[in-house]
Amino acid sequence: MLKKLAIGAAFALSLAPAASFAAGGSGHVEDYDFSFEGPFGTYDTNQLQRGLQIYTEVCAACHGLKQVPLRTLADAGGPNLPADQVRAYAAENFSVYDPVEDEDRPAKPTDHFPANTNAGAPDLSLMAKARAGFHGPYGSGMNQLFKGIGGAEYIASLLAGYTGETKDEAGTTFYENTAFPGGWISMAPPLSDEQVEFVDGHANDVEAMSQDVAAFLMWSAEPKMMARKQAGFVGVLFLTLLSVLLYLTNKRLWAPHKGKKSS
Ligand code: HEC
Repeated sequence: MLKKLAIGAAFALSLAPAASFAAGGSGHVEDYDFSFEGPFGTYDTNQLQRGLQIYTEVCAACHGLKQVPLRTLADAGGPNLPADQVRAYAAENFSVYDPVEDEDRPAKPTDHFPANTNAGAPDLSLMAKARAGFHGPYGSGMNQLFKGIGGAEYIASLLAGYTGETKDEAGTTFYENTAFPGGWISMAPPLSDEQVEFVDGHANDVEAMSQDVAAFLMWSAEPKMMARKQAGFVGVLFLTLLSVLLYLTNKRLWAPHKGKKSS
């Protein structure tokens, strides 16, 4: 039995490298420390607000965020903006088509962030969950067990991973990037040092901003992460308590029959 299991396990593991190979060479992903990691990790409100600013000033030119309702910017545990600020932000930055009036009007908190297909860039709403930063060793995915899936790490590494090399192929310019699978991406380096100014004077080099906007995109992909972790924790606590009670009940039930020599 044990031998069969061992052979089965060895076989399963030997298949894994083939799977990772099929996915194409994956780039280098830096294991950044994010505040939301670990069983008790939470989003850093200030970081999410900086990320929102970077998204708005830089990424929104090409990327939509169409799954994200603007009103969620007011969520506690998220960017936590005051309601009037969300209203002003929506109206100032985005407009949506109103089919009744047959014209564009300023966005309201009840609208979603708009989609953006102008540049052929993918929507970023769920990007942090759609990409994995960690795969190995040998595509077995074991690293994800210890480091997490790594979607935010991947995005931060991607934005900070440009080498400066470019090449032209069939009329398209590709930029060398150490994190992008395959090594060449058609997105020009979107960030440069001091491109975005923060009101609190927070660091605005490429690496810092990459992490801020990656954290914001993690939130957009999983806005209820904190509630999920909390529910999980309560669940584990409850099950532990239940196990102890069941164990004691079991002992109590069998107590009269144990320790007796056969009757
Ligand atoms: C000038 C337009 C443009 C801007 C500005 C821009 N991007 Fe992109 N982005 C693209 C395009 C085009 C692609 C598709 C690239 C490809 O697949 O080769 C892309 C792809 C991506 C991807 C997906 C990479 C993958 O694994 O498929 C991420 C993540 C991303 N961008 C994040 C950002 C962030 C964050 C910002 C703001 C800091 C940003 N982009 C700004 C055009 C842009």
